[in-house]
Amino acid sequence: MTADSEERLFRVAVLVSGEGTNLQAILDRLHGREGIEVARVGASRESARGLERARAAGIEAAAFEAAAYPDREARDRALADWLAGRGVDLVVLAGFMELLSPAFVARFRGRIVNVHPSLLPAFPGTRAIEQAIEYGVRVTGVTVHFVDEGVDTGPIVLQRPLELPYPADIAEVEERVHEIEHELLPQAVRMIARGAVSIDPTNPRRVLVAEDHPWTP
Ligand code: GAR
Repeated sequence: MTADSEERLFRVAVLVSGEGTNLQAILDRLHGREGIEVARVGASRESARGLERARAAGIEAAAFEAAAYPDREARDRALADWLAGRGVDLVVLAGFMELLSPAFVARFRGRIVNVHPSLLPAFPGTRAIEQAIEYGVRVTGVTVHFVDEGVDTGPIVLQRPLELPYPADIAEVEERVHEIEHELLPQAVRMIARGAVSIDPTNPRRVLVAEDHPWTP
């Protein structure tokens, strides 16, 4: 096969801050399949285990620590340049625990998704699982959403609920949440790569997915 006849793969970048189990799920389920490649992995911290996972899979990976730049905007510009340099189609925040600057969001508008461990708009921000347990809700879950300038406020792509046991053991709930995330996030990325996800032209809050069908009682 010549370079010319090679099909252009859908290029995904994944940003992490910590363990990177969601990155691992994307690597295991999507990388090198269905026309998708994980092209770059960026981290907010050099110590993020996700960087090791990426390198073990042969993927170019680098840390962009805010402290190494004059300000957050400069860090985000460097990160955005690095991703754009590889022609990234979609940026996936998989446990990336820092807010990206408005300029970064604008540059990749409609092309950034985040996985969050609650049923948004409930419990945005950090410690979402703890927040849900402390509040006393009976059902929590996982959300994959597009990223806008707010904290976990962008249009929702997919959600899946999880009933909370009572009393709730935090480690057990985290494990269940992770299991759901590891299915839901790759599913959302796969659908976006296939072009099956769009914003409803009549309602910019609502995401349409090709699998959606009209509700019938
Ligand atoms: C995941 O549970 C993800 O939903 C959460 O961080 C964890 C990262 O795990 N993200 C947030 O709370 C973002 N607000 P991982 O590093 O093992 O993928």
